[in-house]
Amino acid sequence: MEIDATVSQRCTLVIFGITGDLTRRLLMPALYNLARWKRLPKDFRIIGVGRSEIPVDTLLDDLTRSLQEFVSEQAGEASVDSVDWKVWDEVVRRLAYVSGHIEDAGTYAKLLQLVKGSQAGPGAGNVLFYLAVAAQFFGPVVEHLGEAGFAREEAGDWRRIIIEKPFGRDLQSARALNRDLLAVFREDQIFRIDHFLGKETVQNIMAFRFGNGLFEPIWNRDRIDHVQITVAETVGVERRGIFYDAIGALRDMVPNHLFQLFTMLAMEPPISFEADAVRDKKQDVLMAARPLSEEAVLQEAVRAQYTEGTVRGRAVRNYREEPNIAAASRTETYVALRLMIDNWRWAGVPFYLRTGKALTQRNTEIAIQFKQAPLALFRNTAVADCIPNWLVLQIQPNEGISLQFGAKVPGPDVRLDAVNMGFLYKDYFRTPPSTGYETLIYDAMIGDATLFQRADNIEAGWRIVQPVLDTWSGGHGSIWTYPAGSAGPKEADDLLAREGRAWRPL
Ligand code: BG6
Repeated sequence: MEIDATVSQRCTLVIFGITGDLTRRLLMPALYNLARWKRLPKDFRIIGVGRSEIPVDTLLDDLTRSLQEFVSEQAGEASVDSVDWKVWDEVVRRLAYVSGHIEDAGTYAKLLQLVKGSQAGPGAGNVLFYLAVAAQFFGPVVEHLGEAGFAREEAGDWRRIIIEKPFGRDLQSARALNRDLLAVFREDQIFRIDHFLGKETVQNIMAFRFGNGLFEPIWNRDRIDHVQITVAETVGVERRGIFYDAIGALRDMVPNHLFQLFTMLAMEPPISFEADAVRDKKQDVLMAARPLSEEAVLQEAVRAQYTEGTVRGRAVRNYREEPNIAAASRTETYVALRLMIDNWRWAGVPFYLRTGKALTQRNTEIAIQFKQAPLALFRNTAVADCIPNWLVLQIQPNEGISLQFGAKVPGPDVRLDAVNMGFLYKDYFRTPPSTGYETLIYDAMIGDATLFQRADNIEAGWRIVQPVLDTWSGGHGSIWTYPAGSAGPKEADDLLAREGRAWRPL
């Protein structure tokens, strides 16, 4: 597909769920940032679809108030530093609103009129649909769009659709959703979002690996001892109890976000940065990941729930006492897994993955431990152990990359200590504040699917976690606990300790 990467073509963005949290917190700020960066096409239009019977002005006021709040709050996620009201007015001036239920065919008839009502001319029929609604509505909305003829591309115009997560809740439902989608849209019209791919530091994993000649020769089982992938959060379940208690940490984070980090780190070099070339290589990693037997799940997967504690000075309740959580909930808020990749590059190298809520630190990183140097040289010295070399890709916060190695401590004795060579993004680049959704929306507008998941990528991810879901839902495998504000359950430490290893401190 030909991509116009300079300025996106004229198009209409239709947001289902315009009054929802995702739109207010992330999509509108992202559109505002795109407008600031002059990345929105000239005749860009936004049509919001929502249930409330409200005049468009009320919606605009609400969106404006939200933006203002984020700026004064300076919340990391909102990532808008100041509001240039002229730019914001430019964005909201383009907004129209359709009220109606998303399961009602009448809503789509109204939408069709609005889309067709735009001026004629090249690109007038380009439409990008954004499904910012609860997952149970993905299928119905797509079906209605199909029935209303929205998926048909006529007279050179394009139709595309962005689907949010969660994409299914297991392998079977993900397959069913793919089937529903593909019954209406072609694969190249579908953009399945994983917002981790909108993060600069995640995109940089590929740049780091394939843009530098230095690391490739050591990026394999000969030199690497093991890999740790951590996504630690300080937030608890907050106000998302209804959603989260039915989902848990494994489904919420692993087949999507953690597997993005996993595949980017482990993939073979693609033959180009074309979407399918990259996605093929990621797919190879997922397909080569060794499926876990029930016995392996019991040994190599750990789940746990947080109990009462203190996270950065804030008292946190026991998970089971959080709002909208079942009193006897067995939903995990923490998960750790050991995965092996059965291919030539990685055979024998364990990948340890962990993610959890209400932990002591917010920290997303990939840490690679290289094999030890032979100790023989240091016989008859005070050096008991060589310092392991760690390469750490710090995704967030304190975005950067560091390399740890051993250096001689000055003095008459031969002693080694760990030292660090570090690169911090903020020392080199002035990154404009962003939500991470800017790149993704922009890429969908120019038709570049590199940072989106293909149907087979999604299913391959679920394939790996499915045995864990099955084993746990069958009542096997304990659910451990950890105090809020700790580094996770002891049993996750045991997972590594059994092999003489330890998690890096959070
Ligand atoms: C979301 C999960 O997809 O990602 C949340 O549903 C999680 O539970 C969030 O907190 C983490 O994303 P980020 O960008 O804050 O690291």
